Amino acid sequence: MLDDRAALAAADPHGARAVLAAFPAQCRTAVDIETGALPPMKRPRVVVVAGMGGSAAAADLVAACAADRVEVPIVVHRGYGLPSVAWDGALVVAVSYSGNTAEVLSAVETAQVRRLPLAIVTAGGALGALAKQRNVPCALVPDGIMPRMALGSLFFPLARLLRALDLDVVSSAEIEEALTVVDALAAELGPERPSADNEAKRLAATIGARWPAVYGGPVTGPVAYRWKTDFEENAKAFALAGALPEMNHNTIEAWRTSRARDLQLILLRDEHEAPEIKRRFDVLRQLVGASAGGVSECQARGQGVLARLLSLTYLGQWTSVYLAVLRGVDPWTIPTLDAMKRLLGS
Ligand code: F6R
Repeated sequence: MLDDRAALAAADPHGARAVLAAFPAQCRTAVDIETGALPPMKRPRVVVVAGMGGSAAAADLVAACAADRVEVPIVVHRGYGLPSVAWDGALVVAVSYSGNTAEVLSAVETAQVRRLPLAIVTAGGALGALAKQRNVPCALVPDGIMPRMALGSLFFPLARLLRALDLDVVSSAEIEEALTVVDALAAELGPERPSADNEAKRLAATIGARWPAVYGGPVTGPVAYRWKTDFEENAKAFALAGALPEMNHNTIEAWRTSRARDLQLILLRDEHEAPEIKRRFDVLRQLVGASAGGVSECQARGQGVLARLLSLTYLGQWTSVYLAVLRGVDPWTIPTLDAMKRLLGS
């Protein structure tokens, strides 16, 4: 079915696959988006990025890239208000694709009450209007797609904003490499490439009716979480996610029960992972491989951290869209999430 054009078109009526195919172009455009000048300030003591769901995923990616190179902590805040670390010396960045997410608007309000420097990344909505009215530095990104599919549009302006404060999350060379890697992947994973030669289609078919359970290492762990949310929103499928080494200290126990048969173990591997992590992945396979419904390994591409994280993320996006098609659900719409927002009046 995944190789049948007409069947794909019928199963994906809103064109999620076209949006994913255009992801490399989305990233290239996003690299040049102006962020607006931040008020003159010293290096922040901490950066708090407020966002939810797909918008928070961009912040996770920034924090993952920064982890081993930026001394200023980047805290991703998913919720109302702001945590107590957001006081003197903090920079708050509000990221919301729609610009209308209640939790993010509440974080902005708190930042203003606390008189904290604020920047915004959005495609419009109430946040876009607020940025204009109150002259808040704002990266206005192209609108019209689903927030979770706008990862490039949100990630690059956020990284650029931080670079303006000397917080070098990714270098220009790493950005260039990542763009080349996602370009190549778009051709390898898109609908035109048949299943026999398409990792995302094959993985979706292998998962089939099982629950995907995705684990990364210390660097790719946040990407495993992103795979989980993509399976949930695109394929409307329950999914598990975690990271090594932590899961070796808890979740691993559940993997040798009979219920593990219902799960597809998906390991996100990275040739840059430390030898002790590599060993843990190997021993994990040894211990639970036979009781899992199946085991798949996906390899990150590239040398730089951004290429490695983005290549795995992009593979997860395609896999979840193909899984949606196989399960007969529309990968674009999120009716329950929308109903929740509607009922809350946000
Ligand atoms: C929908 C999606 C959601 C949203 C979340 C927050 O595609 O990915 O997870 O990202 O509901 O909305 P925004 O991103 O508009 O602030």
